[in-house]
Amino acid sequence: ARPIVVDVDTGTDDALALLYAVGCTDLDLRAVTCVAGNAGLEQVVENTLRVLEAAGAGDVPVAAGATKPLIERMRPEGQFHGADGLAGVELAPTSRTVADQPATELLHAAITGASEPVTLVSLAPMTNVAMLLTLHPDVADHLERLVFMGGSASVGNVTALAEFNVWQDPEAATCVVESGLPVTMYGLDVFNRLVIEQEVADRWTRSDHPAVRAAGELLHRRGTRAAGFEQDYVGVLGDAGALLVLTHPELFTTEHLPVRVNLEGLGRGQTIVDRRPHAQDQQALDRDPWPVLEVALDADLAAAAQAFVD
Ligand code: BDR
Ligand code: CA
Repeated sequence: ARPIVVDVDTGTDDALALLYAVGCTDLDLRAVTCVAGNAGLEQVVENTLRVLEAAGAGDVPVAAGATKPLIERMRPEGQFHGADGLAGVELAPTSRTVADQPATELLHAAITGASEPVTLVSLAPMTNVAMLLTLHPDVADHLERLVFMGGSASVGNVTALAEFNVWQDPEAATCVVESGLPVTMYGLDVFNRLVIEQEVADRWTRSDHPAVRAAGELLHRRGTRAAGFEQDYVGVLGDAGALLVLTHPELFTTEHLPVRVNLEGLGRGQTIVDRRPHAQDQQALDRDPWPVLEVALDADLAAAAQAFVD
């Protein structure tokens, strides 16, 4: 199984991603770190511990990281995920506790202590990840690659141009995009279209298995909330798609494209993806060529959804 460490801002869809990370035998979840985003840090930590409990995870260490972005003030995303981050889904309390060490130190230890290269997955504003890369540049030698849910080669969600995770901490996203590491971007281009049928969610809510029931309730609640104000998001699976890119790469269409984070004005927080024909050749002529990322642009959506369900 592929060793992974995951940074989350749990979040209904981070929760679904964690359930998948624990449940999928192709993934070996080595550590989870928390950052403020969909909710405040304390709530994110509590949600994460409870989700791991529901998932039946072994003793996966959890650490807390940044309470706010590098520069911006905190602007939590309460609208879609609710004040508790889980849209009111109540998960059983757990005796699991958060590690004493900060997120950057847990990530560093988990990544450099592994006997094989580790994949770092970010499903949240990239504050913790940017701090890790800055404080501990030696992780670069131990990473298989970095995959992040965030950005878009087309529309935004929190603004016309910007996706939430990048918009919340654009400087952190810049650190990641410009890191020189192999980076895969799973943005809104596929994220917005990968949906789970509501009847599957409803069936799961009646399951005896705590992980399946939790997944059903989370999907059901995401669906009903979206139906209330953002009809286009009904059934959208969300962050777990970034893990499906790892477990089922054959189902995704990706391209290597120049990407930069827009830090200015109305476009702040946008990922600008250079989709000109021969963009890399065009960029090579430039004195300041943009970093090239692997960008997920399309997927066999039905098969990807089925892979999550399976
Ligand atoms: C991202 O923002 C959060 O609402 C979700 O958890 C996801 O990571 C989508 O823009
Ligand atoms: Ca998230």
